[in-house]
Amino acid sequence: MTRRKLIPSIYSLFVQQLLPDKFALLGVARTPFTDEQFKEEMKTALHEFKEIDDEKQIDSFLSKVHYQSIKYDDASAYLLFKSRLEKLRKEEEIGGNTVFYLSTPPALYGIIPDQLATVGLNSQDDGWKRLVIEKPFGYDLESALKLKERLLKNWTEDQLYRIDHYLGKETVQNLFITRFSNGIFEPLWNRNYIHHVEITSAESIGIEKRGGYYDSSGALRDMVQNHLLQVTGLVAMEPPSSLQADALRNEILKVFQSLRPIKKDEIKHCAIRGQYLESTIKNVKVPAYRDEEDVSPTSVTETFAALKFYIDNWRWGGVPFYVRTGKRMPTRVTEVVIHFKQTPHFLFSEKCVTPGNQLIIRIQPDEGILIKFGMKKPGEGYNVETVNMDFHYADLSDQRIPPAYERLINDTIIGDTTLFARTEELIEAWKFLTPVLESWKNDPDIPLYGYPAGTWGPETADNLIEDVGGTWRYPCKNLSNDGIYCEL
Ligand code: BG6
Repeated sequence: MTRRKLIPSIYSLFVQQLLPDKFALLGVARTPFTDEQFKEEMKTALHEFKEIDDEKQIDSFLSKVHYQSIKYDDASAYLLFKSRLEKLRKEEEIGGNTVFYLSTPPALYGIIPDQLATVGLNSQDDGWKRLVIEKPFGYDLESALKLKERLLKNWTEDQLYRIDHYLGKETVQNLFITRFSNGIFEPLWNRNYIHHVEITSAESIGIEKRGGYYDSSGALRDMVQNHLLQVTGLVAMEPPSSLQADALRNEILKVFQSLRPIKKDEIKHCAIRGQYLESTIKNVKVPAYRDEEDVSPTSVTETFAALKFYIDNWRWGGVPFYVRTGKRMPTRVTEVVIHFKQTPHFLFSEKCVTPGNQLIIRIQPDEGILIKFGMKKPGEGYNVETVNMDFHYADLSDQRIPPAYERLINDTIIGDTTLFARTEELIEAWKFLTPVLESWKNDPDIPLYGYPAGTWGPETADNLIEDVGGTWRYPCKNLSNDGIYCEL
C-alpha cells in the first residue's frame, strides 16, 4: 500500500506543488530500516509505480523522507516517536500540523490512536492533528461501535478521516455532478420513472497475496459495506443544500438510514454468495479460492456477493436495487446502470420490444457515460433498435484524472472531509449488513454457490434480478459494448 499508492500519491502532490512548502514525511513500521534504506525502498517504488522523468525532483522529495521503526504496542516507543517528530519539526522549521496515516492491519486501529494520545499527539494546541484510517472500520456492527467509542475517547470526530478510496475516484464524484448539474436527469430520478438500479463491481483478479486478510473478510465486508454502499448513497441521495462536507454527508447518511433491513427469512433469496472454483482462463489454469495461499481449504468465505434491497423513502419506494461484486469474474469493471421504465404503452411490434432506456455510468475502466435508447431501424415498417449515445473521459485527452489516493491525501491536508465516510454512515452500513453476515455464518440452509473462475458468478444470482424481468448487464472492457461476446 505504501509503495503502490501512498508514496506515489504524495510524490505527485509534491510535484504539483500541492504540499506545504515545508514538510517532512516520517515512515513508521516494525521493519528495522535506516533512513537511507527506507529512502532507497521508496525510490524503487516511485520508479515502479510512477512515471518519473525528473531524478532531481525525486531526490528533492526524498530529502524530506525519514524513517523510524516502532513496536506498535510498546508505550516507550511512542515517546521516541514523539521526540523524533519534534526534532524533525525543528530541523525543517515546520509547525505542529500533522497527519497520522494508519495504513496498518485493522487490529491496530484501536491501539495506535490510543498510544498516540497517551503521549499527547492528539492535542491540537500547537496545530491540527488528523488521523487517517483505512477500511475496514470494524468487522461487524458490534466491533464498529466499540472502535467508534474507543477512538472518540481521545479524538474528535473532525480529526478522523476514514478513507474509502472509491470516494476519491473522479468518476464516483462525477455521479454527483451528473445528477445535480443537469436539469434533464433530476425530474426522472425517482420511482415514477426508474424501474430498477444495478450496480456492479467486478474484478478479474483473484485474491492475490491477500489470503490472510481476505479469508476473514469476504466480498460483502471488503467491497459492499464500504465502496458499493457509498456509490449507492451517491446514486440515491437527495440534493444537498450546499457543497459543505456535512450537507453532502448528511444526505448520504439519510439514504443509509432508509435501507430496508433484509429480514432473516428473505436473506436466502435476496443475498446470494459464491466462491470461485478452479478453472482455465485464456489457457491458464487458475486455482480455486480454497487452494489460494493463506486460505483455509474448507473456507466458506464468499468471493462473490449479490444483494437485492430497497430504500424506503419517497424517492425510491418500491424500486429494487441490485448490487453485485466478485473476484475472478470475466473482466474488471465498475458501473451503475439506471434502468428506466418502459413507455406506458408500447406501440411497436412485440418482436421489437426493446428494454427500457438505460443510463450507464461507468466508474472504471473506459470511464464515461452511456445512454441507450430506441431508434427507428431504417427500412420498411416501424422497427425499433437500441442505439448508444456515449461520452468517454478519454476524449478529454488534455485532462489528467488524478488517482483516488492523491485526491484524498490532499483533502486530508487541506481539511476537506467531504469525501470521507463519517462514523454514523459506517455504523448504518453495518446495521444493514450484519444480519446478512450473521445468517451466512450461522444458517446452514443458506448455500455458498461455487462458480468457475472467469465467469459472472453463480447462476442463482441471475434469478435475483430476473424477478424484475431483467438480466444483469454483461459489461465489456469497452463502455459501449455489452453481451457475452465482446472484448473483456
Ligand atoms: C479494496 C479491496 O478496497 O478495493 C480490494 O480491499 C479490491 O479487494 C479493491 O480489489 C478494488 O479497488 P479498485 O479501485 O481496483 O476498484
